[in-house]
Amino acid sequence: MKKVEKYGCYLLVLSVCTLFIQWTNKPLEPASEKYPVKIINERNLMEVGSYYYPEQWPESEWERDIKNMSELGFEFTHYGEFAWSTMEPEEGTYQFEWLDKAIALAEKYNLKVILCTPTPTPPAWLSYKHPEILIKNAEGRTIQHGARQQASWNSEVYRQYVEKIVTEMAKRYGNHQNVWGWQIDNEPSHYDSFDYSDNALIAFRQWLKNKYKTIEELNRVWGNAFWSQDYNHFDQILIPNAKELVQQPNPHAILDFKRFTGDAVAEFVVWQQELLKKHISPEQWVTTNLMADHSIVDPLRFKELDFVTYTKYLVYGSDMGYGDQGFRMGGSTALGLANDLFRPITGQTGVMELQPGQVNWGTYNPQTLPGAVRMWIYHVFAGGNKFVCNYRFRQPLSGGEQYHYGIMQTDGVSVSTSGKEYVQVAQEMKKLRKEYNPQADMPVQHAARKTAILYSVDTRWETENQPQSRDWNYFSHIHKYRKILQSYAVPVDVIDETHDFSGYPVLIAPAYQLLDKELIGRWKRYVEQGGHLVLTCRTGQKDRNAHLWNEKFAAPVYELAGVNELFFDVLPAGKYGVISSDKSNYAWHTWADIMTPVDGTDVWAVYSNQFYAGKAAVTHTRIGKGTVTYIGADTEDGKLESDMLRKVYAQAKADIEDLPEGVIMEWQHGFWIGLNYSSEEQTLPIPANARIIIGDRTLQPAGVVVWK
Ligand code: GAL
Repeated sequence: MKKVEKYGCYLLVLSVCTLFIQWTNKPLEPASEKYPVKIINERNLMEVGSYYYPEQWPESEWERDIKNMSELGFEFTHYGEFAWSTMEPEEGTYQFEWLDKAIALAEKYNLKVILCTPTPTPPAWLSYKHPEILIKNAEGRTIQHGARQQASWNSEVYRQYVEKIVTEMAKRYGNHQNVWGWQIDNEPSHYDSFDYSDNALIAFRQWLKNKYKTIEELNRVWGNAFWSQDYNHFDQILIPNAKELVQQPNPHAILDFKRFTGDAVAEFVVWQQELLKKHISPEQWVTTNLMADHSIVDPLRFKELDFVTYTKYLVYGSDMGYGDQGFRMGGSTALGLANDLFRPITGQTGVMELQPGQVNWGTYNPQTLPGAVRMWIYHVFAGGNKFVCNYRFRQPLSGGEQYHYGIMQTDGVSVSTSGKEYVQVAQEMKKLRKEYNPQADMPVQHAARKTAILYSVDTRWETENQPQSRDWNYFSHIHKYRKILQSYAVPVDVIDETHDFSGYPVLIAPAYQLLDKELIGRWKRYVEQGGHLVLTCRTGQKDRNAHLWNEKFAAPVYELAGVNELFFDVLPAGKYGVISSDKSNYAWHTWADIMTPVDGTDVWAVYSNQFYAGKAAVTHTRIGKGTVTYIGADTEDGKLESDMLRKVYAQAKADIEDLPEGVIMEWQHGFWIGLNYSSEEQTLPIPANARIIIGDRTLQPAGVVVWK
């Protein structure tokens, strides 16, 4: 070949390669204003990473570990959220050379880095110099240095130190090409303790002043004439604390204190985002990692972040799952509900921590079932997460989490059994990427059953405070509905009221206790235009201030439910009521709204014992082009709710599946994903002409199948 031809060929190959590289790196859709960058190139579907703590290991082992991480197929790592004392060993003395090295090693081995602000773990010198930054528990005891999350988000002094360390980090790494994005703090939540310190008290009073403006208005909303609780001015108000009172605190004060705490933590995190964004490149994103289902923190208050991620552990002796081996896999709605709650917050999400196998901190810490970790990762994928990060790469040899599995065993070089499951998925993800068709639309039949669950944190907090029955639990009530929807293979978004309802053929508002008439109007319009609304027990009993209405009990829901009277009953332990519908009977125990229907209302189920036998338990009305179904009872096994919902989907002319307990079928990115959380072998209803890409039609417990 002549020299010139050779050169031409070379140029051609070079430009094709360049084009290809540009094409694969190009975001497929234009980035919206809110997201200067997409989290990942969509073609990568979901990226897989692992936590590493350089400060916890001899420097001589870092390169070996990072290289291993990369060779095992991980694509990013995660540094720094607990390293404040290494970054600033003494006040004002910053040491980042170690982190520079660790980031450079990650870069050398093609691992992007998520960098964290170390604010959950202020160093000892800070707590010693400024003990006023520490939180107090309900007994008034100061929480000492020695674990984590002991500093008050409301402490101005703590914030001065936070500002300094965060700014130092932002300046140093905000334009580093290998820093992918930032995690603020770690599970900011005080691990479900409320803060009763003076910092919190001062901030709470200010929050109340901002909200109520006058003490008279606060007295009115809190109903303070009751038990002579009227205040003369805001400075008399204390944090409501059952430990300091002989009877229950004012429920409106409690609700406001929970709202205040939810606002305070979100404000602390968003404030850190602002500190970062003064210095970091617009290519780097900012998030935080919230525990998926803890009550103190409301993920929906974090909308100002680029996106919100969650952390999840499933096997620690609490959730027994399904069947004999269920305790080794956990329940099937744990990840499902977290996916559906976090994804709609800003439209994209990731999982920052996922259990790597056996852990150390549960009531019981059994081994996970072989395959369970892999199944969870596929569940995360099925929920549309852009990345999943394993907690953690190496099993710690010292400190508070010995016995906590990592990808590597205690020797640091042997891959653990569950680590192998991560490695397997990292490989399989490559196969899926090749099969990815960005143009694939959700199958029509699947879209027709799309359902939203309307979530209200105010209702959650209020009913936790005033449950009326020891067995009532708002979040379990939601899980129950989510589980039924899972058995129908219905795609779900868990949304709040800021979302438009009209894109969902079915909208379920479980136990929506606190509302206003504007929401009732929105629901009615949704139904008139053809939506199928499902309301469940406890809905509409109170206004937004958690006052009962100065009308008949729960009057605002009467028109939608087609009733003219409603009262409720709850039964003590061991007592069950009976409900009948068609030829079936159902037992209930936790909650029953007992309704008197008006003419024209269909009664789908009635109470068949107790003194109100014959009254309606489930009503169904048609309004305009749509329907409302009011399911008044909460049953333990969910059978009543399931049978009623089946009828709702029939009304909506939406086909649904009938999957066994623990079996999941979700559609994501053009793939169908089947998972088996049950303890038995299951065969999925996969169409004969489907092409199976991973797994098999028949699933063993913890099995996974992916098809097109
Ligand atoms: C998480 C926490 C991590 C680690 C992990 C252990 O809740 O965010 O830092 O403690 O638990 O399972």
